[in-house]
Amino acid sequence: MFELAAKPLQLATPLVTHVVGSRVLVYESIGSTSDCALRLGGEGTVIVADTQTAGRGRHGRTWHSEPGKGLWFSVAFEQPIEGLAFAAPLAVRDAVAPYARATIKWPNDVLIDGKKFCGVLIETRRGRTALGIGINVHHAEMDFPDELRGSATSIEAATGVHCDRGELLRDVLTRLDERIMVIRSGGLRDVFNEWSTACALAGRRMRAAGKEGVVHAIDTDGALVMETAGGLRRVLFGETIKLEGE
Ligand code: BTN
Repeated sequence: MFELAAKPLQLATPLVTHVVGSRVLVYESIGSTSDCALRLGGEGTVIVADTQTAGRGRHGRTWHSEPGKGLWFSVAFEQPIEGLAFAAPLAVRDAVAPYARATIKWPNDVLIDGKKFCGVLIETRRGRTALGIGINVHHAEMDFPDELRGSATSIEAATGVHCDRGELLRDVLTRLDERIMVIRSGGLRDVFNEWSTACALAGRRMRAAGKEGVVHAIDTDGALVMETAGGLRRVLFGETIKLEGE
């Protein structure tokens, strides 16, 4: 199942977009594509690397970015985009639809069969934004470090499909561009509704920051509103939640 060597990473063309991919820079190895995006900037510039030596995830975690295994890329924007955190996981979910039925875990992890194969990191420095996306594509289960085995997967490990990274990259960038155009033409609410439905959290029991309750709603800024014994409580993106049954 994993005998196929990964093809050299190259964006499949054509990329027909409005903003995302105005410039695409492909590196063999880089510290972090997000650092590079924050440094270089340029509206819609995409930085993609075959491997990262200092890939990072949310909450200061390391993001494992082995060569030939995944898609590690960042998109630079010259100002923050409201709703980017909703648009990004939807774009990934839709781009992998030909291979698998992916789901979104609040706020923006993307899962196949309950295991994470994609993470999203949005960082802003002096007004410039880097949207970093990591997608595990060709990993076999044994490629993941011990602590991630059981909770992480790749498209190939989950489906047996050896998809082309360049085509997948083009499809994610295209879907992302489409949603950004929707947001920029006044459709933030539609993208939010799609994302919040995809998160499928309403009514689920969960624990966050020492409190237990049932998810009452998702606010338009993405925060969860949780019904606890002490009343309604907002849970922000940065807080870790544990859903019952997971
Ligand atoms: C998460 O913790 O789930 C977010 C992971 C984000 C990883 C990507 S890989 C490309 C970009 N560069 C980084 O250093 N991180 C992001």
